[in-house]
Amino acid sequence: MKRVALLLCFSFSSAVLFAQVTNEVKMNRFLDSLIRLMTLEEKIGQMNQYSSDFAVTGPITKDGDKQTQVRKGMIGSYLNVTGAERTRSLQEIAMQSRLKIPLLFGQDVIHGYRTIFPLPLAEAASWDLEAIELSARIAAIEASAAGIHWTFAPMVDIGRDPRWGRVMEGAGEDPYLGSLIAKARVNGFQGKGFGNTDAVLACVKHFAAYGAAVGGRDYNSVDMSPRMLYETYLPPFKAAAEAGAATFMNSFNDLNGIPATGSRFLQRDILKGQWKFKGFVVSDWGSVGEMVNHGYAKDNYEAAMLAANAGSDMDMESRAYVQHLPRLVREGKVKMSVVDDALRRILRKKYELGLFADPYKFSNVQREKEQWNNPQHLAASKEVAAKSIVLLKNEQQTLPLSKQTKKIALVGPLVKAIKEHLGFWSYDWDDDSARVPSLYQSIQNKIGNNTQLLYAKGCELTDSSRSGFAAAVDAANQSDVVVIYVGETRNMSGEAKSRSNIHLPGVQEELIKAVAATGKPVIVLIAAGRPLVFNWTAEHVPAILYTWWLGTKGADAIADVLFGDYNPSGKLPMTFPRSEGQIPVYYNHYNTGRPAKTETDFNYVSAYTDLRNSPQYPFGFGLSYTKFQYSDIQLNKLAIKPGETLTATVTVTNNGNYDGEEVVQLYIRDVTGSVVRPVKELKGFKKIKINKGESKQVQFTLTANDLRFYNERLQYIYEPGEFRLFIGGNSRDLQEAKFELKK
Ligand code: BGC
Repeated sequence: MKRVALLLCFSFSSAVLFAQVTNEVKMNRFLDSLIRLMTLEEKIGQMNQYSSDFAVTGPITKDGDKQTQVRKGMIGSYLNVTGAERTRSLQEIAMQSRLKIPLLFGQDVIHGYRTIFPLPLAEAASWDLEAIELSARIAAIEASAAGIHWTFAPMVDIGRDPRWGRVMEGAGEDPYLGSLIAKARVNGFQGKGFGNTDAVLACVKHFAAYGAAVGGRDYNSVDMSPRMLYETYLPPFKAAAEAGAATFMNSFNDLNGIPATGSRFLQRDILKGQWKFKGFVVSDWGSVGEMVNHGYAKDNYEAAMLAANAGSDMDMESRAYVQHLPRLVREGKVKMSVVDDALRRILRKKYELGLFADPYKFSNVQREKEQWNNPQHLAASKEVAAKSIVLLKNEQQTLPLSKQTKKIALVGPLVKAIKEHLGFWSYDWDDDSARVPSLYQSIQNKIGNNTQLLYAKGCELTDSSRSGFAAAVDAANQSDVVVIYVGETRNMSGEAKSRSNIHLPGVQEELIKAVAATGKPVIVLIAAGRPLVFNWTAEHVPAILYTWWLGTKGADAIADVLFGDYNPSGKLPMTFPRSEGQIPVYYNHYNTGRPAKTETDFNYVSAYTDLRNSPQYPFGFGLSYTKFQYSDIQLNKLAIKPGETLTATVTVTNNGNYDGEEVVQLYIRDVTGSVVRPVKELKGFKKIKINKGESKQVQFTLTANDLRFYNERLQYIYEPGEFRLFIGGNSRDLQEAKFELKK
C-alpha cells in the first residue's frame, strides 16, 4: 500500500516537475525570441517605470507625452494607475506598440486596497500568521480586480526606532517574528501562484537596512556592521525571497557609504548571488537619481550606470535609465548582458502573470464590481482588527465594560473620527463615511436602550486649546465610566513622518489628566502608527488599549473588545520606550560588560541616570481579560548534540474568568559565544486558545540549527556550550531552564 502511495507520489511529482520544465522551456523560448526582436531602446523601455498622478510620493515625470512613450515601447511599468477601466485603456495603448509588450501596473497596496486592514505593525501585534496572510490575500483579490498586477509590499524592514515614521509599515523589531510575517504576507499576496487572476507580484522592500536610519530620521544614512546586517536586518528579506517573492525594491539610504540603489554587495552579491533570487529589483522612487544628492554619482548618467551595474533592474521615476542607458551601453559602460539580464527578469514576471497571453486579464470591470463590496472582506477586516488590539493595562477589572452600564462618557478627538481609522498608506473612497464606522457609531450599535452615551471631544489631536476640557469633565462627572480615545493623526506616522517627540500630540494627555481627576474609571484608547510615550497615562489610568489604526471595520473591533465580545490577544511587536532619550530600546540587545542589576541601578552600569532601566512595555507584552499561568519548563534532556532534538514543554492554565488566546513565546540565550550574543532571542511562539478553567500543554522543539548565529567571519554556525531557555507570555516575565549543546 505504502509502495503504491510512494510510486503515485513519485509519478505525480515527476509529472509536476515535467510540466514545470516544459513551461520553463516554453517561456524561455518565447522570451529569447522576443528579446531578439527588441531594439536597445525598447529593452531599456522595459526597465523604465513612471507614475501616474494618482498617489505620488515624490516628484513625477511631467514632461513628454507618456502615452506616446507607451506606444513607442519606452515604458515597461506604471505605478499609481488603478481601476479596471484606466488600466485597460493604458494597456490598449501598449498593445499599439511595435512588439505589444504589456504594461505592468504596480501600486502601494500596503494594508488593503478597497477594504483596509490594520496597519502592518498593528497586524504584527496579532502574532497570527493566518490572519496576516488572509489580510494580504484579500488585498490581492481586491487590487488585482482593479487591474493591479504588483503590490509594493511587504515592507520587511526591522524597526527598532519609533521615531522613524515607517515602523508602521513593518512587523516591528524582531527578525524571527519579522521573517515569519514576511513569508505570510508574500504567500497572501501571491496566492496560489501567478497565472491566477487574483495573485499579484509581491515586492519586498526596502533592501536593505532602511529601518536603521540614523536617529530614526527618514531617508537618513545607515552605518552598520556586516554581522548586525546579517543577524538582524536581512533575515526577513531572506525569508521573503525563500517564500518566492517575485520582486524586491531597494532603499533610499546609503549603507556604510554606498547608496543601496548602487550597491552591488546588496543586490548582486547577496540577493541575486547568495540567495539566488530570480525576480527583478525595482529602485525606490527616484532613488537612482538621488545618488547624485548622496554625492555618489556625478549626474544621472553616472547614476544610471552605477545602479544598472549594481543590479537595480527597473528605474522608478528617475528617468535615468531611459535617458542614459542607451548611450552607456553604446559606450560599453554598461554591458548589453546587464540590460538583457534585467530585461529578462522583468519580462519573465509579465509572462508568469499571463499578460502576454491576455494583457487585459486583470482589468475586468465585472470582477472589480463584485469584489468592491465583498461582505466577507469587511468581516475579515473586523476580525483581523480585533486580533491586533493590545491590552496594556487593566486594573480593578475596569474592562470589559458591562453592556448594562447606565451612562458611558465618550471623550476625545477620535471618538467621531472616520477616515483616521484607515491610517497611512491607504486609499480614501467616496463612500468611506458609509463603510467606515466611527467609534461612537460602533458603540451605539453595541449597547441596549438602557445605556446612555455622552460625548465630548475635549480637544483636537494636535492643537493646544483646552477650551473643550470643561465639557469633557462634565460628561465624565455624569457617567459611570469614561472611554477616552486619543492618539496621532493618521498622517503622523508613515513615509517622511519621523518625529523627534513621540509623546501623545497636543494637549491630549492633559485631557486625560483632567478627566481622570473626576475619579471616574477611565479607559484610554490610543491610536497610532508607532509606539508612543504616555508615561502619566501608563501610571495613573486603570485601563489602556493600544488600538493603532485598524482599518475599515476597526471601530467595530474596538467596540467588541471594550464590551468583551472579543478578549484581546495582541502582543507588542516593538518595545515601548519611556522617553525618546531611551531610543533605540529593544529586547534582543547585548548584555554589555556592566549590565544594570535592578530597575534603578545607576551605579557605574549601562544605564541612564534619570530613567528607570526597563522600557515602558516590553516586546511581546499584551494582557488578556483572563489570567494565564505558566508551569515550570520541562525539558526532555539537559544536553543535546547536533542532530538531536530538545523538547521544551510548559502547561499554560487559564485561571481567570474568560476564555482567551495566549501567545506563548520561546526565547533562548547563548550564554557564552565567540561573539557576544543577545540577552534573549525569540525562537518560537504559538498562539493558542484556552477556555477558562482549562490547561493546555505547549511544546516547542529546538535543534542545533536554531542556535546558529553569524560569527566574526560571518559564518552561520552554532557553538557548543551553555544555553538558557525561556518561555512565557512576553519577553520579560518568563519561566527559565538551562541546557547544553555538546559537540
Ligand atoms: C516609498 C516606497 C513606495 C514608493 C512608491 C516611495 O517613496 O519609499 O515604499 O513603494 O514610493 O510609491
